[in-house]
Amino acid sequence: MDVSSMQATATARREPLLSIKGLKTHFTTRTGVVKAVDGVDIELGRGEILGLVGESGSGKSITGFSILGLIDPPGRIVDGSIDYDGLNLVSMGEEARRQLRGNDIAMIFQDPSMTLNPVLRIDTQLIETVQAHAQVSTAEARQRARDVLVQVGIPSPDERLKAYPYELSGGMRQRIAIAIALINKPKLIIADEPTTALDVSIQGQIIYEVKQLCRKTGTALIWITHDLAVVAGLADRISVMYVGRIVETGATADVIRGLCTPTRKG
Ligand SMILES: Nc1ncnc2c1ncn2[C@@H]1O[C@H](COP(=O)(O)OP(=O)(O)OP(=O)(O)O)[C@@H](O)[C@H]1O
Ligand SMILES: [Mg+2]
Repeated sequence: MDVSSMQATATARREPLLSIKGLKTHFTTRTGVVKAVDGVDIELGRGEILGLVGESGSGKSITGFSILGLIDPPGRIVDGSIDYDGLNLVSMGEEARRQLRGNDIAMIFQDPSMTLNPVLRIDTQLIETVQAHAQVSTAEARQRARDVLVQVGIPSPDERLKAYPYELSGGMRQRIAIAIALINKPKLIIADEPTTALDVSIQGQIIYEVKQLCRKTGTALIWITHDLAVVAGLADRISVMYVGRIVETGATADVIRGLCTPTRKG
C-alpha cells in the first residue's frame, strides 16, 4: 500500500461514526433544574464498542436517550452537538429521526417490555420492524426474522416466532428485544443495562453473543451499565460518568486498572 492510501485508510478509521460534544440535557422541574447530562463528550468509531459506566443517577440513560431523540419535556437538550455519520441529530426533525431509529440506530432497553408489544406475536413484531424501514415482502421479512432469531441464539425459532411475549422466559424475551434491535442491521446500537435483570450465566452468554455479532457485522455499540465487570470483557474503551459528566475515558484495561488500583496517600 502506498503512503497516500495508507493515509486515506487512517483518516477513514479516525473519522468517528458518532461525535458528541458538550452535550447538556436538563430537566426543568418545580424544585429546580436537574442537570442530568451536563457537558458530555463521546467519540465512537465505526464498529467500536464503548462501555458507558457510572453510578446510579450519573446520567447514563439520559445520554443514551439524548442520542436517540427520546427526551420528553420537561427534559430538553440545552446545549452541545450530536453528530452521527455526518448528520446533526440535535437539529434534525422528528420524522427523519424516527427513520433513523430502529434502522441506523437501535436501542436495547433494560426491560424488554419497552420494546415488545404484549398483544402481538413475535413474528408480527419482527416483520413490522423490517417493513417499517424497507419495502420487502412479508415472506422475505419473515425469513429475516427467523435468521435473526438464530443469530441471537434462540432455539426452535419457528416455534418462537408463533409465540406471544408472555409465553417466553425473561432471558428469551430480552433476546427477542435484541433481535428486534439487530434485524435492520443498524450501524449503532445503544444498550441500556439490557442484562441486569437476568441471571449471571444468561447475562454472560448474551454479552458474548452481542459482541460476536457486532464484530461480525461491524456494528458500533454503546453498552450502558453501572457494573464495570460487565463491560470488562466486552468494550474496547470505557467512559466513566459522574454527576452528568464523563470523568474518564480510556482503553478498557487502562480504565479498569486505574479504578481498581487504590490511590497511594502521602
Ligand atoms: N423525567 C425526569 N425529570 C427529572 N429528572 C430526571 C428525569 N429523568 C431523569 N432525571 C434525573 O437525571 C439524572 C440522570 O438520570 P439517568 O436515568 O440518566 O441516570 P443513570 O446513570 O442511567 O442511573 P441508573 O444507573 O440508576 O439507571 C438523575 O438525577 C435523574 O433523577
Ligand atoms: Mg439508567
